[in-house]
Amino acid sequence: MPILLLGTRNPGKLREITSILEGSGWSFNSLQDFDHVGSPEENGVTYSENAISKARYYATATGLIALADDSGLEVAALDWAPGVHSARYAGENASDAGRRELLLSELSKTSNPDRRARFVSVVAIADPAGAVLNVSEGICHGTITFAPRGTGGFGYDPLFIPDGHTQTFAELPEAIKNHISHRALALVQTKEFLAADSRG
Ligand code: IMP
Repeated sequence: MPILLLGTRNPGKLREITSILEGSGWSFNSLQDFDHVGSPEENGVTYSENAISKARYYATATGLIALADDSGLEVAALDWAPGVHSARYAGENASDAGRRELLLSELSKTSNPDRRARFVSVVAIADPAGAVLNVSEGICHGTITFAPRGTGGFGYDPLFIPDGHTQTFAELPEAIKNHISHRALALVQTKEFLAADSRG
């Protein structure tokens, strides 16, 4: 089976990616198997730029075909921020809880009552020579709660109710998030690419 390096240090993302790509005909390595590999810069202004530069970085550093995801949460009342800056919202060393608190506090300060939001994920695959093999995108629409709810998932999940549901991503069963989320929608396309490109 060909090997794909899953280029993320986020345990929540790693779990979702592994579960969704199961059955693609590829086996997966994680960064845990590569102690010497550092972390890529994320200076791009779009999710695609960041996903591609992360996939290239990990592929070059490990010598394996690598996948990376860049994602973010966009909130209407905040002019669709934090977006591509979602990970660094509240500063480099902030926790998920700190980012959630800041988001709720910014929403409480604005006069705009529009709590619509969307999660965006771009997933890129690159080879060790730097060639980009596949890029796919998924978007999940929903609304932002007034307080965190639920203990599942990661990141902003306790604040996000996907359209068509009454529970947050952190309250819904993992299998439902992995069916409807931004990352799931991007990875369904990635999986089609992988299944078609089994590399013997
Ligand atoms: P990056 O893709 O590593 O730049 O990080 C994106 C930011 O958005 C991080 O703060 C994540 O926690 C957050 N994020 C991305 N996807 C999700 C998700 O599925 N649920 C909750 N938060 C997410």
